[in-house]
Amino acid sequence: MILFEKSSQIKAETIGNNVYYRGLIEFSNQCEKDCYYCGIRRSNKDFSRYNLKDEEILEAAEFASQQNYGSIALQSGEKTSPAFTQRIEKLLKAIKKLSNGQLGITISLGEQSEETYQRWLNAGADRYLLRIESSNPDLYYKIHPNNPQHNHEKRIDCIRTLRKLGYQAGTGVMVGLPFQTYEDLADDLLFMKSIDIDMCGMGPFIEHSNTPLYQYKDELMPIKERFVLTLKMIALLRILMPDINIAAATALQAIEANGREKALQIGANVIMPNITPGMYRDDYNLYENKPKTNQKTSDYTTYLEKQIAIWGNHVAYGQQGNSLHFKKRQANISIKNS
Ligand code: 5AD
Repeated sequence: MILFEKSSQIKAETIGNNVYYRGLIEFSNQCEKDCYYCGIRRSNKDFSRYNLKDEEILEAAEFASQQNYGSIALQSGEKTSPAFTQRIEKLLKAIKKLSNGQLGITISLGEQSEETYQRWLNAGADRYLLRIESSNPDLYYKIHPNNPQHNHEKRIDCIRTLRKLGYQAGTGVMVGLPFQTYEDLADDLLFMKSIDIDMCGMGPFIEHSNTPLYQYKDELMPIKERFVLTLKMIALLRILMPDINIAAATALQAIEANGREKALQIGANVIMPNITPGMYRDDYNLYENKPKTNQKTSDYTTYLEKQIAIWGNHVAYGQQGNSLHFKKRQANISIKNS
């Protein structure tokens, strides 16, 4: 396909074929929000909630450090409280310390106050991922309740704040949502360009039977089409924003075993092996058919490395893999200030 050839070529010319690992730690599925698509939404009472102990989180970070991953990603359901802010702050400091400052840290912990974002940045977070889910407010309110806790403008403001504070800021959308049009998706790409993000994670929407959006399952695009459309979105974004980091979303792997590797081939450059301790991983069910392979072993690290190589890329162990777009942005800021 011409699109994929073009996006691969632009990727090769701009950022090369290095792939960066982020060891993904899904440390809690407790969530205050009630998004209509998500399996861990507050109203879903049909599964068990967990919250890893600090030691378990640190042990997983230690694993990533020993395996020379370069970075980790800490993710959980949304929670806002002084105790939560403090807990994350402590963990960030401890993770930086255990890796002698070497591990890069992405956090993905939802909408928080500017003060909280600042504290986490000071404590050692490098990047923040906050998906807008859809840039179209009308569609946003079809897939979320319309109330102060789920506010589209607030979410956009948060992304702007993160960027302003000095995070590498990332966003993303789901592809193949009910009611979503091609125009919405084109606007999503333009939104990312206009807000000038440093990173993106976007994946196919996968219906979950215990969520309100499940009622539209028969109106969705076939799952394989959602998969290909996500690849096309990644390819287009690579062409539109050649120097940003783009993650190969786990949801791609839920549809095709090598889905993430394919995304890396046509434009993505980041992959997030799931290193959440095994007994919890199955309960982080954002969508159904979430891959259950144990990725927290050195065998898996090597296996994934080989798969990535088959699809034409190279794992850059020990490198944080920060966004080139962000580095340029920072350099421009310092030129302006000098
Ligand atoms: N299908 C695909 N992605 C989902 N997410 C949540 N629920 C689903 C689903 N049913 C994504 C959202 C969220 C991220 C953590 O997971 O985009 O931001």
